[in-house]
Amino acid sequence: MEFYRAHILICAGAGCISSNCLSVKSELEKQLKDQGLDKEIMVVKTGCIGTCDIGPVMIVYPEGVFYCNVQPEDVKEIVEEHILKGRPVKRLMYTVPTTKKVVEKVDEIDFLKGQTRIALRNCGVINPDRIEEYIARNGYAALGKVLTQMKPKEVIEEIKKSGLRGRGGGGFPTGLKWEFAAKSQSPQKYVVCNADEGDPGAFMDRSILEGDPHSIIEAMAIAGYAIGASQGYVYVRAEYPLAVERLGNAIEKAREFGFLGKNIFGSGFDFDLEIRVGAGAFVCGEETALMHSIEGRRGEPRPRPPFPAQKGLWGKPTLLNNVETYANIPPIILNGADWFTQYGTENSKGTKVFAVAGDINNTGLVEVPMGTTLREIIYDICGGIPEGKKFKAAQTGGPSGGCIPEEHLDIPIDYDSLKEIGSMMGSGGLIVMNEDNCMVDVARFFLEFTVDESCGKCTPCRVGTRRMLEILERITKGEGKEGDIELLERLAKNIKATALCGLGQTAPNPVLSTLRFFRDEYEAHIKDKICPAGICKNLLKFKINAEKCKGCGICAKICPVNAISKGEDGKYIIDNEKCIACGACAKKCPFDAIGKGA
Ligand SMILES: Cc1cc2nc3c(=O)[nH]c(=O)nc-3n(C[C@H](O)[C@H](O)[C@H](O)COP(=O)(O)O)c2cc1C
Ligand code: SF4
Ligand code: SF4
Ligand code: SF4
Ligand code: FES
Repeated sequence: MEFYRAHILICAGAGCISSNCLSVKSELEKQLKDQGLDKEIMVVKTGCIGTCDIGPVMIVYPEGVFYCNVQPEDVKEIVEEHILKGRPVKRLMYTVPTTKKVVEKVDEIDFLKGQTRIALRNCGVINPDRIEEYIARNGYAALGKVLTQMKPKEVIEEIKKSGLRGRGGGGFPTGLKWEFAAKSQSPQKYVVCNADEGDPGAFMDRSILEGDPHSIIEAMAIAGYAIGASQGYVYVRAEYPLAVERLGNAIEKAREFGFLGKNIFGSGFDFDLEIRVGAGAFVCGEETALMHSIEGRRGEPRPRPPFPAQKGLWGKPTLLNNVETYANIPPIILNGADWFTQYGTENSKGTKVFAVAGDINNTGLVEVPMGTTLREIIYDICGGIPEGKKFKAAQTGGPSGGCIPEEHLDIPIDYDSLKEIGSMMGSGGLIVMNEDNCMVDVARFFLEFTVDESCGKCTPCRVGTRRMLEILERITKGEGKEGDIELLERLAKNIKATALCGLGQTAPNPVLSTLRFFRDEYEAHIKDKICPAGICKNLLKFKINAEKCKGCGICAKICPVNAISKGEDGKYIIDNEKCIACGACAKKCPFDAIGKGA
């Protein structure tokens, strides 16, 4: 066995690849070779570490020095200064956006140290293309344990005891689902992994597949054993080519090592896996649509019951779980349900991974125990709102969820608390919005998404959501009418009650939750023809502050519609009848004299 005096972990998740990490890695390998260090220092390509917006990122062990925004031209300095002379390169270390403090070690970064990583335990730690590294972190030990020491019923009992609930959005108890599938009698059953991940901004499942694909393979084999299935499918969207590639490699390796295929661990249990690549329609994440898509049919939902556990793929009992749900299975089996239940709240056990994005200092992947408050995630872990702006709302659950306003920043995040305030956990998208966001426009954005993604099979969703969108579009254009809010509420209620699948049933949620917490903004748009946040273009009025204006005339020269002219006092004024609210004048005024407002 070879020994290395240092390991350099370099993230090769999709985010860092798009910011050029593979060139950084090649340069690193070249520089180490040039210096004769390639036998002493091991370079490890890992999956996403979670800090994607400051990539490419790398960690040098044993010290644990964390470097961010590393470019190929920085590598020579890292090798010559840090690796050869033991002097870490300060300028490439992470700087806390709020305090400007430079942080040297990876375990001192609030964003990472505030997390509890169960589902993401191997992401950013191991090379996903090397099964040996997964095995070295107890990989496939849980499969070995269930096949050699546990009966299928005992496996299901352990999962039930753990309190694990589905991480794909609905939060259905996983052990119960496994029990239903196990009880369905059939010589052929299937296990399916839902890796469709269609929520805008969400990338938790992609990161797990890219960074730790064996954990999903192992969990699906355990599920197969528990319910009596010998074949599994992972349904993953085509927009995730790296996840497809790494999962494909991992499946091959698992077969080679005897963790998939016939007679696994000499137990007589057979299980194998195939990948099915979906075209990326949001509705194909809905379980019945997904199964239609795997069967080669149009990805349209069908009514339930029968549930997949009774009648799923090709009419056979099918167990379908989300990627993150599966990622929790091996550690639960290895460490026991009691270990798992130490994390989380009474009815929501374990952790949840969030993809945090929007107006926030540190974006990326955050895994925290259920019950952590939104305030802790936003301020303690993600460093708060940039530029000293005020928090306005956070959207959880993507297009099916809702907005959480400041007054609820301290509620513990779990399935039930979020539901109580009209939002939902969803699959883990968390979009933070500052005071500059118009909540009517946010609702319009999410509804536009669901209208685009509706499969059109049932009328309430196909027609109803479009009518709601038309109303919202009118309101944001300043053409809202008295009675629009009530009409939106009536439509929302009817769509939720009558749509066939979860897409339609939850599509009105962003509208209802913004109406619940930001009704005054709707009223301002409709009655006063004002967009208080200054976002809706048709309601914007650009104004020149006469006290600040120095009369330089720059704005008048660049206005594309000649809406700015010089007044008698030498100050410039805007004719709002002509102004098309392009904002060019405000951007160019050297004296910051032009503002947008009501
Ligand atoms: C429109 C729609 C889209 C969905 N998209 C996903 C998805 O991308 N990933 C996912 O795991 N579940 C998604 N779901 C939920 C699935 O239907 C299903 O409940 C889930 O995959 C079950 O796994 P779990 O019990 O492990 O959460 C979606 C549901 C709806 C209605
Ligand atoms: S609710 Fe929407 S997405 Fe679901 S079946 Fe009906 S039309 Fe299709
Ligand atoms: S650019 Fe600014 S300072 Fe110059 S005329 Fe316009 S408003 Fe006044
Ligand atoms: S916002 Fe655009 S159109 Fe309006 S006054 Fe300024 S430059 Fe002219
Ligand atoms: S992809 Fe590199 S940190 Fe996320």
